[in-house]
Amino acid sequence: MKTVLSGIQPSGRPHLGNYFGAIRPHVAMAAGADTCLYFIADYHALTTSRDPAALREASRDVALTYLALGLDADRAMLFRQSDVPEVLEIAWLLACVTGMGLLERAHSYKDKVAKGLVPNVGLFTYPVLMAADILAYDSDLVPVGKDQIQHVEMAQDMAASFNAAFGPVFRRPEPLMPREELQAKVPGLDGEKMSKSYGNDLWVFESGKKLRQAVNRIVTDSEPPETPKDPEKMLLFRFLELFLEPAELAEWKERVRRGGPGAPGYGHLKQRMAEAIETRFGPARLRREELLADPAEVDRILAHGAERARVRAVAVLDRARRACGLR
Ligand code: ADP
Ligand code: TRP
Repeated sequence: MKTVLSGIQPSGRPHLGNYFGAIRPHVAMAAGADTCLYFIADYHALTTSRDPAALREASRDVALTYLALGLDADRAMLFRQSDVPEVLEIAWLLACVTGMGLLERAHSYKDKVAKGLVPNVGLFTYPVLMAADILAYDSDLVPVGKDQIQHVEMAQDMAASFNAAFGPVFRRPEPLMPREELQAKVPGLDGEKMSKSYGNDLWVFESGKKLRQAVNRIVTDSEPPETPKDPEKMLLFRFLELFLEPAELAEWKERVRRGGPGAPGYGHLKQRMAEAIETRFGPARLRREELLADPAEVDRILAHGAERARVRAVAVLDRARRACGLR
C-alpha cells in the first residue's frame, strides 16, 4: 500500500481540464487501496494572494469541488496545508541543506521572473515548502501535472541531501503523471490547451444558459451541415469524446462524415454537448449546493483530515529534529 499525496492550488473555479487531468484521477485513486492525502495549498497561495476573503473562499471552493465530485473523505485525507504547520518547520530543515543553485534552476520560478514578475522570497523558496509538503507525510507517489515534475525531483534531491547529512529520515517520493495527463490535454474553447490563464476554460459546474453560452464559444468554421467533414479534425468532437458513450459518439461521427440532408450542424452538436455536460455534472452540482449550505460539515471534514495528516507530520518532524541535533 502506497501513500499518495498531492497539493491543489486554491486558484478559482476548476475547469474541465482540471477535472479530467487532476480531480478525476485523484478521486479514483482515493477509491483504491492506497492512502491518499490531498491538501489545499493555501501557504503557497500567499506567494501571490493579497486578498484574505478571496483566499478563504477559494480554499473552501477546492474542498467543495472535491467532495461534490465524489472524494471519499473518510478514506482520503482532505485538509488545508496551513492546518499542518509542522510543514513550515520541515521546510526550514530542508532549506538548510539546499543550495541556492538548485532553486535558481527551477523552471517555474525562472519563467515567472522572465515574464517580469518581481519575486518575493516565498516564491523563490516555493519548491522547499513543496518538498516539505511531500516529505512530511512519507509520501511514495505524487500525482502532478508536467509543470510540477521538476519540483518533485527537487524534493527527491532535498531528501537525499538531508539523509546524506543526518541519516535516513525522509522517504524518497516519485512523481506520478496520471494516464489522462499523458494522453490528450483537454482543449480550451478556442482549441488551445484549456487554462484559467487563457480565459478559454469552462467551469465544471456551469449550467443552464451560461453553460450553453460557453459551449457556443467552442470554435467551428462556417461550413453548412450538408458538407461531409472529418470529425477527427473537429474541435467539437474532442469535447464530445470526453462525455459520450462510444456507440453514440461513433454514430454522430458517422453522420458528420456522411454529410448530406439530415446531417447534424454545429448547433445541434453543441446542444448535445451542453446536455452531456449537464448530465455528467448535474448530480455533483447538487451535492456542491448542499455542501455550500452546510459550512459546518465542510469545516468538520477539513479538520478531521488535518488531524489525521498531522499525526504523520508530527512523527516525521520528530525524526528529523532528533537526527539533526535539535533534541
Ligand atoms: P490552469 O492552467 O488552468 O492554471 P493548473 O495549472 O492550476 O491549471 O492545473 C491544475 C491541475 O489540472 C494540474 O494537475 C494540471 O495538469 C491539470 N490541468 C490543467 N489544465 C489542463 C488541461 N487543459 N488538460 C488536462 N489537465 C489539465
Ligand atoms: N505546486 C503545486 C501546483 O502548483 C501545488 C502543490 C503544493 C503541490 N505543494 C505540493 C503538489 C506538493 C504536489 C505536492 O499545482
